[in-house]
Amino acid sequence: MSILIAPSLLSADFARLGEAAQTAAAAGADLLHVDIMDGHFVPGLTFGPQLVASLKKIVSLPIWVHLMVEKPENFIPQFHQAGADWVSIHVEASPHLHREICRAKELGLKAGLALNPATPIHILTEVLKELDFVLVMTVNPGWGGQSLIETTRHKIRLLHNWVQGQKLNVPIAVDGGVTLENMAGLIEDGVNIFVAGATIFTHQNPAQVIGQMKEIARRSPAK
Ligand code: DX5
Ligand code: ZN
Repeated sequence: MSILIAPSLLSADFARLGEAAQTAAAAGADLLHVDIMDGHFVPGLTFGPQLVASLKKIVSLPIWVHLMVEKPENFIPQFHQAGADWVSIHVEASPHLHREICRAKELGLKAGLALNPATPIHILTEVLKELDFVLVMTVNPGWGGQSLIETTRHKIRLLHNWVQGQKLNVPIAVDGGVTLENMAGLIEDGVNIFVAGATIFTHQNPAQVIGQMKEIARRSPAK
């Protein structure tokens, strides 16, 4: 499985989101990660489908909406219509995970479930096979620029072993506190998809950081 890099716009300048997206695309990013916060599931408020529709007009990268919202079922069709390609919903946010994952996939979205740091992987038991990816939150969701919670690495290794043991092809994504320093270790743990916000967009040269991340991915074969 190849390693994918997904810059998160949360740490970009909100007055220049289009430029940030174009920079990420030109630097060879694989996906554009857009964090949707509703002020309920997490305290912050960020973007709506209009941003996705506008980004879709200027970049050809697949757009991944990370729904940090209550009642994600109310939002998935709107984001799909706006042009989202990937969606992750939090297992903590809906009692209808199987239904929502199936509906998102029927719409043509790549659909994954996100787990907060305190959420154990066994909650995925009955749906793992249905997922296009699992998003392991390596920080508590809601803010960019936090440090990776080290205990989540054990969870990633458990999940990786489980997926391998089941002979499934479900990539593991991580979101939060990813740096150039911890990336190789995370690949070793079994991570395939890297979301990174502050590491990329608080740097004076985001394109250079994306290039460095791609280089680390090239040097560290995915497990
Ligand atoms: C946090 C968001 C992340 C955020 C990660 O709740 O889901 O996508 O942008 O930010 P960094 O990479 O700065 O930890
Ligand atoms: Zn995110």
